[in-house]
Amino acid sequence: MKYRTHTCGELRLSDVGKKVVLSGWVQRIRDLGAVLFVDLRDRYGITQLAFYEENKELLEEAAKLGREFVIMAEGTVTERESKNKKLPTGDIEVKVDKLTVLNASKVPPFTIEDQTDGGEEIRAKYRYLDIRRNPLKNNLIFRSRVTQAVRNYLTEQGFIDIETPYLIKSTPEGARDFVVPSRLHPGQFYALPQSPQTFKQLLMVGGMDKYMQIVKCFRDEDLRADRQPEFTQIDCEMSFVEQEDVLQTFEGLIKHLLKKFHGIDTGDFPRMTFAEAMERYGTDKPDIRFGMELGEITDLVKNKDFKVFSSSEYTAGIAVPEAANFSRKQIDELTKWVQRPQIGAKGLVWVKYNEDGSFKSSVDKFFNEEDFKQWAERMQARPGDLMLVLSGNKEATRKQLGALRMEMGERLGLRKSDEFAPLWVLDFPLLEWDEETGRYHAMHHPFTSPKPEDIHFLETDPGRVRANAYDLVLNGNEIGGGSIRIHDRELQQKMFKLLGFSDEEAQRQFGFLMNAFEYGAPPHGGIALGLDRLVAILAGKESIRDFIAFPKNNAGRDVMIDAPDYISEEQLKELHLRLDLD
Ligand code: AMO
Repeated sequence: MKYRTHTCGELRLSDVGKKVVLSGWVQRIRDLGAVLFVDLRDRYGITQLAFYEENKELLEEAAKLGREFVIMAEGTVTERESKNKKLPTGDIEVKVDKLTVLNASKVPPFTIEDQTDGGEEIRAKYRYLDIRRNPLKNNLIFRSRVTQAVRNYLTEQGFIDIETPYLIKSTPEGARDFVVPSRLHPGQFYALPQSPQTFKQLLMVGGMDKYMQIVKCFRDEDLRADRQPEFTQIDCEMSFVEQEDVLQTFEGLIKHLLKKFHGIDTGDFPRMTFAEAMERYGTDKPDIRFGMELGEITDLVKNKDFKVFSSSEYTAGIAVPEAANFSRKQIDELTKWVQRPQIGAKGLVWVKYNEDGSFKSSVDKFFNEEDFKQWAERMQARPGDLMLVLSGNKEATRKQLGALRMEMGERLGLRKSDEFAPLWVLDFPLLEWDEETGRYHAMHHPFTSPKPEDIHFLETDPGRVRANAYDLVLNGNEIGGGSIRIHDRELQQKMFKLLGFSDEEAQRQFGFLMNAFEYGAPPHGGIALGLDRLVAILAGKESIRDFIAFPKNNAGRDVMIDAPDYISEEQLKELHLRLDLD
């Protein structure tokens, strides 16, 4: 080993006296004149190098080092005089007798330490430097461990890892496709997979029985903290299974991960229908680490003089624990918060349930103590709580309350990062009405099977049909979704018709799948978990960007390599493309 005998995280008191070679980056230099110390860093840790006056030439050489120089140092492990209890290697130092500069470095644009002075933008541009810092480095190492644990677990369960192509045609997962123009086929395009959905189903027709793949997916959609245009799924499919079989298998996986990485034994995951989740939490991905459930009071406000409530389809509220002492200013700020376009509420009614049992509210003129008592009961409010009430269209208001509940949970510190609350959300509607296009969309995707007992509604009342679809939710995040699929050509064809496809369109886009269904397609179903989200949440975080080596920013750009970018006239021509930027 030319460059090193040990890593920078390895040496201890028991190594004192050993001749060693270390290589790494200069993190810090402390030049005290007669002695100079260098903190040498690599992936494994930091070791102090010491240069003493007795070797003047070497000391002078060391004085010329700069931050982030890559060096190789040979020397002897010695016990330190003043030990550093914070470092695992803090009992020793390496007294250097030979120094080699392997590569110099410009002064880095931010300090490469746990606490850095670099803003987000500059760190994104120099991502490779940010990766040298512990926070990001440890995230990537953690991701690797989770990925490996997932692969091992599933392999042990008999899953086979199979790669599916990236150059395909559109898979309808509800986002826009990223497309790739074909040089050999003028005017034609590949689409990058939004998921390997159709391929994994074809693998089931191919008899593979249990498929898994840790796979990149591409979706051209609006970005958020938990969304990237390219992200990774743990994608799985199984044959001869019912919903229960899939749930058991993947509940097993998540239990295994929580045990392995946090030593937590969760019992069986709670299950909730979509309808119940919306009613109690105003979202299909409830964070059940805390209460503050929605309490509906529509019936209680119907015949009162407060028009805003009495004329509304739906009125409900949440009881924020121990918040009755919120100031006017705090409540005004909350009102503004719910009125932001992202939330979209018109206003916010508040009721303070004082410690002494009395009430004070923004609607005292219209409601009396008896009314408020009933409200409190519905919202499970206790003296000292603050009731926050919204009113309007049922679906929208529930969502607004759901968002407000999450915000209050966050502000009150109820979303504890070391607590894990998984659950299954079941019985999603098969279809979703889209006002804009005036037609139904598949809520999950068009390959999801309806519940057999609801199939008769397909003709008469499609919105009522429930799907054999399920989501895995962890701490208020959707970390996975799947379904039992349609495996019958006729039913699949009917589905496409309902979704507004003509027979020709359906045949052109998905003929390959429907044809396959005519050659002995087994009953099958599966799930895909979002690996980026899973890893982030297991680490107690929600922003997935910090767990991806080279992520895109909010605008979908990679600011390090500066992509997307224009291509040359020549390339455009070769691809048979002409730009029209107006
Ligand atoms: P779905 O669309 O629900 O299902 O995706 C599965 C999981 O992938 C994660 N995810 C994302 N993560 C980061 N950035 C994104 N843009 C993003 N979009 C989705 C989520 C989500 O739960 N083919 C089906 C699965 C199946 O039916 O088996 C599918 O892709 O955690």
